[in-house]
Amino acid sequence: MMHILVINGPNLNLLGRREPNVYGSETLEDLEIMLQQEAEAHGVKVSFFQSNHEGGLIDCLHTFDGTAVIMNPGALTHYSYALRDAVAGIEAPVVEVHISNVHSREDFRTISVTAPVCIGQVSGFGFESYTAALHQLIRRFAP
Ligand code: DQA
Repeated sequence: MMHILVINGPNLNLLGRREPNVYGSETLEDLEIMLQQEAEAHGVKVSFFQSNHEGGLIDCLHTFDGTAVIMNPGALTHYSYALRDAVAGIEAPVVEVHISNVHSREDFRTISVTAPVCIGQVSGFGFESYTAALHQLIRRFAP
């Protein structure tokens, strides 16, 4: 069975309360329920992990032995070479996602050090950035 891991980085546990004008009013739990339902509808297993710590995200990537990963690294996107190396060092393909359009915000957000080692990036579609990534992974990697 296809198994997709959804990883969320720093501050994404605050979804719903954090800058709702940028990230919306729905919570991380709402996001996970939505993705769970979407994955189930396609016969795909999905797991979730969130951490505010770089090392926790890296450990999670190292131990994942499923099919593919959807990752929102939060601000680590813009400077974490350690997370980039973890993505480059595992076999599973990774899609980078962002709720907001990182290219239309502050200059520092236009740089992603992780995107070049991902198979693609989806940015700016709210929670639907994750569903777009899920659909693309299913199209490409479902057995
Ligand atoms: C984010 C964009 C990042 O720049 C920011 O630091 C986040 C969230 C997004 O999903 O839009 O934490 O990754």
